[in-house]
Amino acid sequence: MIVPLEWKGDRLRVLDQTKLPKDEVWMTLTNYRDVAYAIKTLQIRGAPAIGIGTGYGIALGAIYSKETKPDKFASELGEVFATLGATRPTARNLFSAIERMKKAIGLENDIEQLKRILVSEAVAIHAEQIQADRTLSILGASLIEPGATILTHCNTGPLATAGYGTALGVVICAFAQGKVEKVIPTETRPLCQGSRLTTWELKQAGIPFRLITDSMAGYVMSRGIVDAVIVGADRIAGNGDTANKIGTYTLAVLAKENSIPFYVAAPTTTIDKSIATGTEIVIEERAPDEVTCIAGVRIASDGTEVFNPSFDVTPARYITAIITEEAIARPPYNFI
Ligand code: MRU
Repeated sequence: MIVPLEWKGDRLRVLDQTKLPKDEVWMTLTNYRDVAYAIKTLQIRGAPAIGIGTGYGIALGAIYSKETKPDKFASELGEVFATLGATRPTARNLFSAIERMKKAIGLENDIEQLKRILVSEAVAIHAEQIQADRTLSILGASLIEPGATILTHCNTGPLATAGYGTALGVVICAFAQGKVEKVIPTETRPLCQGSRLTTWELKQAGIPFRLITDSMAGYVMSRGIVDAVIVGADRIAGNGDTANKIGTYTLAVLAKENSIPFYVAAPTTTIDKSIATGTEIVIEERAPDEVTCIAGVRIASDGTEVFNPSFDVTPARYITAIITEEAIARPPYNFI
């Protein structure tokens, strides 16, 4: 299993996802600001991995603090929470991790004790994600029929969760059970997480695949060669509306039109119980050059105006089932 985040007791090793698949570059981070930068720039990406990186970032902010007075230490920690919290607004796991780390602190104000608590909480978040991945993957695999061809979007494997994977975890598990014939990953423009990262993971797992561009999905589904679509999630509202990588909504509508089951796989830490519907989900917008350029090469003409929403929201009515580590939920969804 690929482990893109490694905690080394006092530092975080990170596999830089922006360099894959060409180069496997590992970074060693000790400063929480570098962790925030890594999350913002997608060196660490995928909602669950972002949550884990956030936990470790907070732990680093605490252990490298030089403050000796509890009130000054608390205000420095406040800065750590704010910096990490300002990186990627849509990924629910980022905020689940911050809320959990704040809760772990409780009323403790001994600085050394706080450092120990925050490190062990970050390690626990990571361990629980690995466990959740495995459980939801086994549950999700029960939905896959033998001989299946599965279409998936973006990247939801070990890289995206620092574990086993969510949607791709289901695929990997079903493949191990002999039920998956082929995977169709979409390219996932603008940043090509499908063509760069999912193909890399599928190759490592030895799973046969055939890459398509995002615009080919309708044609491929209409030919009757897709048995199921499985995607991950960045945030799931109480009613099941799901924010995920831009293009997911299009795939869900196409799946319904072609009578193909459309599954979402995510840990319960991605569910946002504070919002009733997807209309309340904040959608991250990213820099124009992600659209005007491919792999650093400009392809759009100078002065081109760009709209670059990183995610979209798939209404719950398009989702056949939501797979978490607790259960396979079917409509009508009610997570609150
Ligand atoms: O912008 P990214 O690459 O962080 O977006 C990732 C996705 O949209 C994934 O599908 C989602 O986070 C689920 S990862 C298991």
